[in-house]
Amino acid sequence: MALWGGRFSGQSSSMFRTVNDSLPFDKTLAVEDIQGSIAWASAIAKAGVLTERELAQLHGELHALQEQAERGELDFASSDAEDIHSFVEAHLITKLGDIGRKLHTGRSRNDQVATDLRLWCRNQAQALITDMEALQCALVRLAHRYTDAIIPGYTHLQRAQPVRFSHWCLAYVEMLKRDVSRVQDAMTRLNQMPLGCGALAGTVYPIDRDLLAEDLGFTSPCMNSLDAVSDRDFVLELLFAASTGMMHLSRLAEDVIFYNTGEAGFVQLGDAVTSGSSLMPQKKNPDAMELIRGKCGRVFGALQGLLVTMKGLPLAYNKDMQEDKEGVFDALSQWHICLCIAAEVLDTLVLNESRARQAAQQGYANATELADYLVAKGIPFRTAHDLTGQAVLVALEKQCALEALSLAELQQIAPQIQQDVYDVLDLDFLVNKRSLPGGTGAKPVHAALQTEALRLGVE
Ligand code: ARG
Repeated sequence: MALWGGRFSGQSSSMFRTVNDSLPFDKTLAVEDIQGSIAWASAIAKAGVLTERELAQLHGELHALQEQAERGELDFASSDAEDIHSFVEAHLITKLGDIGRKLHTGRSRNDQVATDLRLWCRNQAQALITDMEALQCALVRLAHRYTDAIIPGYTHLQRAQPVRFSHWCLAYVEMLKRDVSRVQDAMTRLNQMPLGCGALAGTVYPIDRDLLAEDLGFTSPCMNSLDAVSDRDFVLELLFAASTGMMHLSRLAEDVIFYNTGEAGFVQLGDAVTSGSSLMPQKKNPDAMELIRGKCGRVFGALQGLLVTMKGLPLAYNKDMQEDKEGVFDALSQWHICLCIAAEVLDTLVLNESRARQAAQQGYANATELADYLVAKGIPFRTAHDLTGQAVLVALEKQCALEALSLAELQQIAPQIQQDVYDVLDLDFLVNKRSLPGGTGAKPVHAALQTEALRLGVE
């Protein structure tokens, strides 16, 4: 039964139903649609459209339906409804007859769907913030396990300068903090209510929109009916937040995949989050991390897809906008899955401290120290950089570390070099010298770790 049958004498073609019907996916909005209807019923009762008795009956049915929806027990498969809104209305009409037929007074599916989707997005956003905090906790736990372990830091994927492993963990905590604040910021604009805007021009019934907004937990009603029913910025903003969040997870994944290679060998991942090869018995693959990297494609695609769908749409509602849902449903659920599995992977991660330290010692990661040492001896930095480059060349020829060159060899390059050079080339010494806030030295990293652990309540 379509909601708009009166004007039509012919039937919809089955292909039209296939392209037009949204119940197969907008059933995801069932709980929010019913929640909106419960509030709407109260609002129109207050406006004199329903008697107290009728309201009580509608509320009774809607609450029962909501419980079923929350338990996932609604039977969508045998329904002929076009979308979730018709599904709920058809149910009420079957149960209550004319009382069910009164619920849609003063409302359009246009303000209804915009409200449902905002409610759904708000719920998801809150759950995702919890996921992001859980992942931050996993990173802090990992940083606690290996607070003073040293790994090579890279630029251009070339060993650059050694860093604390815990500093690497906390870098991702910073990204996640920004991801959380992006979602929180999006929520301030998302949390406005389209209901009461009708199809596009507003409603004629004396609805108290402020009260209705409060009832549904919105900060305020949307202030322009044309805009309210045709705005999907809130979906785009969440998709951008999801894309940025996934990009961060993908970089985390890529680091872990690289650290886990046979060539690097810095980390091992647990059996529970890796898989083997059907052919090569020795393999243990970082599939979870690869899937995080791979799933970025569909999440970024959802953002692009909706931007293109919205571009050039005339005001107000157009059916194109029904295409807003599948992308955001999928993107946010993938983001959720990736945040959860990333936390699991980090909880199983074992750092091979000696191997990582050894790698940090190789690759002339302490060359900057030698240059800084020469600067302290009065040599201008550019000259010091050049002299250090020569020292690296000598060491490369001898296939040894800088600190393995003899004092005589070093003095041939720069006579200012003394015995004390060996202290500054020492790995722990040079790491801990980065002692300003934000650096990788013991002092700032310990302080940052303490701050984050306290904020997140990690022991
Ligand atoms: N299923 C539609 C959507 O998701 C609901 C709004 C339909 N409105 C209309 N005037 N046909 O956008």
